[in-house]
Amino acid sequence: MIMDGNGRWATSRRLPRVAGHARGVEAVRTVLEACAKAGVEFLTLFAFSSENWRRPVDEVSVLMRLFISALEREVDQLHANGIRLRVVGDLDAFEPRLRALIRQSETRTAGNQRMTLTIAANYGGRWDILQATRAALAAHPELISHPERLDEALLSPYLAMSYAPEPDLFVRTGGEQRVSNFLLWQLAYTELYFTDRFWPDFDSAALEEAFEWYRQRERRFGQTSGQVAAQSAG
Ligand code: IPE
Ligand code: IPE
Ligand code: MG
Repeated sequence: MIMDGNGRWATSRRLPRVAGHARGVEAVRTVLEACAKAGVEFLTLFAFSSENWRRPVDEVSVLMRLFISALEREVDQLHANGIRLRVVGDLDAFEPRLRALIRQSETRTAGNQRMTLTIAANYGGRWDILQATRAALAAHPELISHPERLDEALLSPYLAMSYAPEPDLFVRTGGEQRVSNFLLWQLAYTELYFTDRFWPDFDSAALEEAFEWYRQRERRFGQTSGQVAAQSAG
């Protein structure tokens, strides 16, 4: 999910943009609970993109503080609910305190199996494909002389989210119909859902609308509708 529209939610109420980010954290809690109840096994939330550093420094620092305080406050609850937390992105750019907190939270919840919540932070789809390619080359130096051996199966294990299946459903709130450098590789066959609702207003009813839309889709993965129907009948 691309949690977009926090700033506009706040501006439309004559509040500072950061008030929207604070309300956005509340929406995360609501959506997380609803997803866990619905049996979602993997939920991935785009919290901060590689490009969001371009924002005013004050806004960036509020976002970092919100991330820290959310981790500090919520991890007990996540753990109690059997949720595993993972964070993907270029974490080297974060302050040491945040990095340590991320590591502790991941370790603490590592044994949980009900659901995996992934937070994409300082994440970019292009960054991911590049870092995976570099890691694959480092692990397989023979690729330099045999580049034809580099295929999807060889590269995939090095992607940041290699532990998760490709997403079934993508949700972007806030009205924009773009991917903004989210999971570029993994979204190849994902169903894309866009809603005008701002992220702080995205609640369990709105989530159910997205699920209902998803249920109407026919996933063909390059095949014809007839083939898909024959397979589900057989
Ligand atoms: C999403 O809301 C939160 C982050 C990108 C961190 P925005 O802050 O992008 O809100 P809008 O799009 O400006 O309304
Ligand atoms: C995408 O939202 C990133 C996150 C929600 C974290 P943006 O608000 O940064 O995207 P653009 O700039 O409108 O494409
Ligand atoms: Mg935005």
